[in-house]
Amino acid sequence: MKRAAIAKMEGGMRYTKLGKSDLTVSRICMGCMGFGDPHNGQHSWTLDEEHSREIIRRGLELGVNFFDTAVGYQSGTSEQYLGRALRDFAKREDVAVATKFLPRTQGEIAAGITGQQHIQNMIDTSLRNLGLDYVDLYIYHMWDYETPLYDIMDGLNRIVQAGKVRYIGISNCFAYQLAKANALAEKEGFAKFVSAQVHYSLIFREEEREMAKLCAEDNIAMTSYSPLAGGRLSKHPGETSKRLREDSYAKFKYDATARQDGIIIDRVARLAERRGVSMTEVSLAWLLTKVTAPVVGATKLHHIEGAAKAVELALTPEDIDYLEEPYVPHKPVGVMAQNTPAASKEQHVWGTGNQKIQGQ
Ligand SMILES: NC(=O)c1ccc[n+]([C@@H]2O[C@H](COP(=O)([O-])OP(=O)(O)OC[C@H]3O[C@@H](n4cnc5c(N)ncnc54)[C@H](OP(=O)(O)O)[C@@H]3O)[C@@H](O)[C@H]2O)c1
Repeated sequence: MKRAAIAKMEGGMRYTKLGKSDLTVSRICMGCMGFGDPHNGQHSWTLDEEHSREIIRRGLELGVNFFDTAVGYQSGTSEQYLGRALRDFAKREDVAVATKFLPRTQGEIAAGITGQQHIQNMIDTSLRNLGLDYVDLYIYHMWDYETPLYDIMDGLNRIVQAGKVRYIGISNCFAYQLAKANALAEKEGFAKFVSAQVHYSLIFREEEREMAKLCAEDNIAMTSYSPLAGGRLSKHPGETSKRLREDSYAKFKYDATARQDGIIIDRVARLAERRGVSMTEVSLAWLLTKVTAPVVGATKLHHIEGAAKAVELALTPEDIDYLEEPYVPHKPVGVMAQNTPAASKEQHVWGTGNQKIQGQ
């Protein structure tokens, strides 16, 4: 089965450069948060290794070469499943692997572990989980108010210099935070963030205010997580799933605005019917007009097939106006709702779980 998938690549996948980097990535990035041991982490709805591998393999067949995971997903088992599948089905140089690290914990701070040491330990843990020598993109998962920005940027620069990471990216930050971080990196001669992974979909468009403009001006690749709003932009009213029932974190992101969002979801369904395509294709085709690559989750084979097809759907300006017109501003939700100094000290649902962290 080794390398079989890439050899029989099919479909019309499109590729682009990730911002200023040399990475050539597929316009659809496979989100791997739904892969991992369901008994060992934040989510009860994740896929076991066998089913995760089938989806990863199908993605490769469809030309997906960009994969997004995190040390925090299901106690490192998402990274482990992805790493083993890529070793079996792909050539290392044909894929771009992104993973993410979490802020320092109160325990690490109390133990005197610096930001630089923390980043070293986090990347070593991820590389061990993935079974890789380096990752292509290493993402600062959420803002760490407890660690000096200098230590974060210096720590990241050191692992780039050491060849463990090719490029760095950021997620869940305000535009001013990214601008400050890259200005500091510029001044110090450190590696800069080449991408920003933001929460962005037809029903959550707050990043259009500032982040999208900063990214466009500085050629920072914007990628979008939860591009289907955890499935809400893919499913007709009444359609349900294990995840829709059990994903309490997604409910925290979307339940409060379900009534107003329903108007847009209904328009996605109507346009999909008119164009003879799926709701997933419409939702992602819209995002493909805005970002470098949506980071799409899949728990079934047909999900990744639907996502891959979206690159072939061209929406007209009238289609885009129709989808955008009912949007009203939303409050920050999810991780961004907790991007404050006070919230950074609270208990969170995320963490590294029971995995052994390197160096500790
Ligand atoms: N940086 C961050 O903080 C952050 C946060 C969240 C996510 N992420 C990344 O973004 C990725 C995607 O996030 P996400 O899973 O929240 O969002 P998503 O891509 O918006 O939603 C994925 C869900 O949509 C549903 N779906 C997909 N295709 C479908 C189809 N054709 N028909 C019906 N349902 C379909 C599936 O739901 P069912 O399983 O219910 O069928 C799937 O689990 C993650 O894997 C992760 O890599 C990053």
